[in-house]
Amino acid sequence: MNASLSPAAVEFPDRLVSALRNARRIAVLTGAGISAESGVPTFRDAQTGLWANFKPEDLATPEAFRRNPKMVWEWYEWRRQRVRTVSPNPGHLALVEMERRVPAFTLVTQNVDGLHQRAGSRHVLELHGNITRTKCFEEDAAVESWPEDGEVPPRCPRCGGMLRPDVVWFGEMLPEGAYAAAEAAAEACDVFFCVGTATVVYPAAALPFAALRAGATVVEVNPSETQLSDQATHSLRGRAGEHLPALVKAAWPEP
Ligand code: APR
Repeated sequence: MNASLSPAAVEFPDRLVSALRNARRIAVLTGAGISAESGVPTFRDAQTGLWANFKPEDLATPEAFRRNPKMVWEWYEWRRQRVRTVSPNPGHLALVEMERRVPAFTLVTQNVDGLHQRAGSRHVLELHGNITRTKCFEEDAAVESWPEDGEVPPRCPRCGGMLRPDVVWFGEMLPEGAYAAAEAAAEACDVFFCVGTATVVYPAAALPFAALRAGATVVEVNPSETQLSDQATHSLRGRAGEHLPALVKAAWPEP
């Protein structure tokens, strides 16, 4: 007879479960770690394959694009293809469920993969853009289609400038209004989750600290320690795909 393995039950402090159950407002900040279980590589883990010798920080800048637009475009094309072939995981789905349970829910993501929306999350603030969109490097305006003439990167059909992914590179401004809305949600929430982010890239990394100062219960979900771990109200060491569904189940057991 085959023995079947079932995941160990995750135990959470009562204080955490009741804070969640009683919360009227929840805000969540996610980073690359929540998509790791879907098979999207995180930024600060070693890259694999073709790109193993490059640091994302060296590719994700306007200077890198000016220097070598073809290489940067191709790196994003590789990531775009990766994102197209993967699916949301139980961590993404647990946040969809959480959104259904509370009157006010704001999901702030640094991810550009669109997996939260594909999972069904409705109120998503994308701080760093979205890899599936394209814009003109010169005009900074969205471009929906362009001539497929083999040029890499393709050219803007309006001005002939180079096209680039509609993501925020190091040194660039965040989309207008997105950070202010995220900060307002962090400061107004009862419970703030910080999930799968190394918490090193600002201004996003400031959000859990803003929530703490405003008196929220701050919950970190990450297999590794971060600069938030010591200060968070609860630091859950482990994977988002395990902890988030278990927490939702603990706070809102099925009737
Ligand atoms: N569940 C939860 N967290 C995880 C998991 C998992 N299954 N796997 C890895 N992690 C954690 C790692 O321990 C790490 O702390 O996710 C974090 C990923 O960190 P980064 O790769 O640095 O990603 P992130 O914090 O989202 O990066 C922020 O930096 O490069 C820029 O613009 C880019 O949005 C990105 C920003």
